Amino acid sequence: MKQKISKIIKEVDSFSFNSLEEVEEFRLKYLGKSGVLNSLFSDFKNIDAKEKKDVGQAINNLKLTVKNKVSSFSTTKTMKKASAIDLSKPIKNNNLGSKHPLSIVESEIIRVFSSIGFNISEGPEIEDDWHNFTALNTPKEHPARDMQDTFFIQSDPDILLRSHTSSVQVRHMQKNKPPIRTISPGRVYRNEAISARAHCLFHQVEGLYIDTNVTFADLKQTLLFFAKELFGEKTKIRLRPSYFPFTEPSAEVDVSCNICSGKGCNVCKNTGYLEILGCGMVDPKVLENCGIDSKKYTGFAFGMGVERIAMLKYHVSDLRLFYENDIRFLNQFSPSI
Ligand code: PHE
Repeated sequence: MKQKISKIIKEVDSFSFNSLEEVEEFRLKYLGKSGVLNSLFSDFKNIDAKEKKDVGQAINNLKLTVKNKVSSFSTTKTMKKASAIDLSKPIKNNNLGSKHPLSIVESEIIRVFSSIGFNISEGPEIEDDWHNFTALNTPKEHPARDMQDTFFIQSDPDILLRSHTSSVQVRHMQKNKPPIRTISPGRVYRNEAISARAHCLFHQVEGLYIDTNVTFADLKQTLLFFAKELFGEKTKIRLRPSYFPFTEPSAEVDVSCNICSGKGCNVCKNTGYLEILGCGMVDPKVLENCGIDSKKYTGFAFGMGVERIAMLKYHVSDLRLFYENDIRFLNQFSPSI
């Protein structure tokens, strides 16, 4: 039996494979259920007790040789593959991605207001009616509610998706005593048909400044500073009278068109100006609703859409591009580091 085994070992040693199929065939022939090794093991039961030790060792030897033979084939294969890799080659340029344009613009707005002492306040996107409307001088049935077509939670008409981050300002006033200087960036929702100029969700940064003797002149200078920081030193602003239920007086702010420098083009519709935000002096009733003494304190507030500013800054003509995640669009903005 020992002789038989050494003959098989020799046979195994001299075997060479050309393909994976051959390896598998070989493996089955020796290691398979009814393969050579199993039949040797069953013969092993019947041999003389004296021989058992030597024969047992020989069979194990054979088993090891077969296994080594099978694994040697896969190692030579991977070694062949590995030697095809040129380790001295320069690595492929990894695509680092870029910051989303809305994030770039939002950070820029935050940077400008932080530099003049505004802190950041945040609040919930699912809001109650009081914080989004009633506290802001817009009680139920007030016609100004139509200015912001709102998503209500059907099972509870008191709960809604905030339509502006003024709701965060209300929460901030309830929790903090003047002087207050805060900006509230965040996502807001309105029930609007999606088009190149409108979306059912967008981003806002709203600002609030409350102290003694805050005037409309402070508001105007703050916004002029902001516009120059964001659009360049030569930027001019223009205030037009407007209406918001929570501010009195109220205004809409335009900046001089940065595409035609105010000469008139199709983006500014030949007016030389582009509308960027709404603002006004906080209505004393709003201050009182939020627990602030309106005889002692006055304040201003403003609110802008991040998408609108990004469209003007980067000359993007369709708002939907910001949400489509098309890599060709996103790659045009500065890298994240
Ligand atoms: N909340 C207003 C809006 O979303 C913007 C605004 C804020 C206007 C503060 C005036 C003062 O349209």
